[in-house]
Amino acid sequence: MLAGEEGFGCQRAMELLVALGKIYDADRLIPIVSAHLSGVSYKTMGEGGLLFLKELSGDARVTVPTTLNPAGMDLQRWRGMGVDANFAAKQIEIITCYSHMGVETTCTCTPYVIGNLPGIGEHVAWAESSALSFINSAVGAMTNREGGPGALAAAIVGATPEYGLHLKENRAATIVIEVGDIREIFDLSLLGQAVGPIVGGGIPYFRGIHPELEGMKLLAAAMAASGSVAMFHVEGLTPESDEQVLDGLEAISIGRRELDVAKESLQTADEPELIALGCPHLTVKEVRELAKMLEGKQRVKDVEVWFCTSRSVRDECTKEVEVLERFGKVVCDTCMVVAPIEDQYSVTGTNSAKACNYLPTLCSQKVVCASARELLEGLM
Ligand code: F3S
Repeated sequence: MLAGEEGFGCQRAMELLVALGKIYDADRLIPIVSAHLSGVSYKTMGEGGLLFLKELSGDARVTVPTTLNPAGMDLQRWRGMGVDANFAAKQIEIITCYSHMGVETTCTCTPYVIGNLPGIGEHVAWAESSALSFINSAVGAMTNREGGPGALAAAIVGATPEYGLHLKENRAATIVIEVGDIREIFDLSLLGQAVGPIVGGGIPYFRGIHPELEGMKLLAAAMAASGSVAMFHVEGLTPESDEQVLDGLEAISIGRRELDVAKESLQTADEPELIALGCPHLTVKEVRELAKMLEGKQRVKDVEVWFCTSRSVRDECTKEVEVLERFGKVVCDTCMVVAPIEDQYSVTGTNSAKACNYLPTLCSQKVVCASARELLEGLM
């Protein structure tokens, strides 16, 4: 592969993996069972990225099941989002390149709820910081915090250098977090926001929380954005939590005061022009809960509302989608961060600490950080 005997794209992919292996002192390549790619939106990829992708997709094909992160627009209803035609044409080119390479153009950051779910102990190469932290932690699959190009190279070669979180000894907890006073799922997002900067790239071990899948994904996303956490353990819940040796580890407590401080640190405005929920993408359960909350309710304020989810989840929830669409738009394939929302809005309200971290820098937004209930009830 490195000599180019299997084509230009495969050679470039192998060159990248060899370089990564050398940097991180890996002994060997190990086979992977799946990949998940980020770097899909034309907004973040730009002309340079598109050019690279075009070159690679000439002859390279992925060799393991590979899914794709959100793009810069709803691929079917982009006009309704106010996306301009030039952007749309570029975005479709990107998706076509990935599709040509054999990538499943799922365009969601929760691939683990729509079929790309590795097993415990299986090696994968996933980009998308929230998703990779979720599968390392909640599932017990093994991936490093890949960038888009590294994950794509691994998907083409079908292997990744063995270092970091692919090695059991690097998956041990580094700090204990004692949590008190979690009242609602939104608090788990704030918890992640509070913990990320303290932990940095370490591995926290949580006591005092019992999140379901939806809480885990919010927590994972927030810590990956406010710090660079790629894995965590939850006592009695995550698959590797029982093996942890906690003696001698630093322990800190997070309670209501720290959660309030985390919320205040994210909030920079009071009146949203756009309310966007679904970072990471809404699951079926979340869509159903939102529909229940909004059934029969009228929106009084003229604020744009987006419910961001995967196309699969949308297709599974047709009745609930009807309820949500009376209130706003159920937007698929994209999200409030990777879509070019800055062309239309300057203040966004969201319940996701991850989105609150990225909206100011990637979308020039001021941010209203509140629970989904608070944000939506503010419109009635
Ligand atoms: Fe997903 Fe976009 Fe958030 S990719 S995790 S909804 S920033």
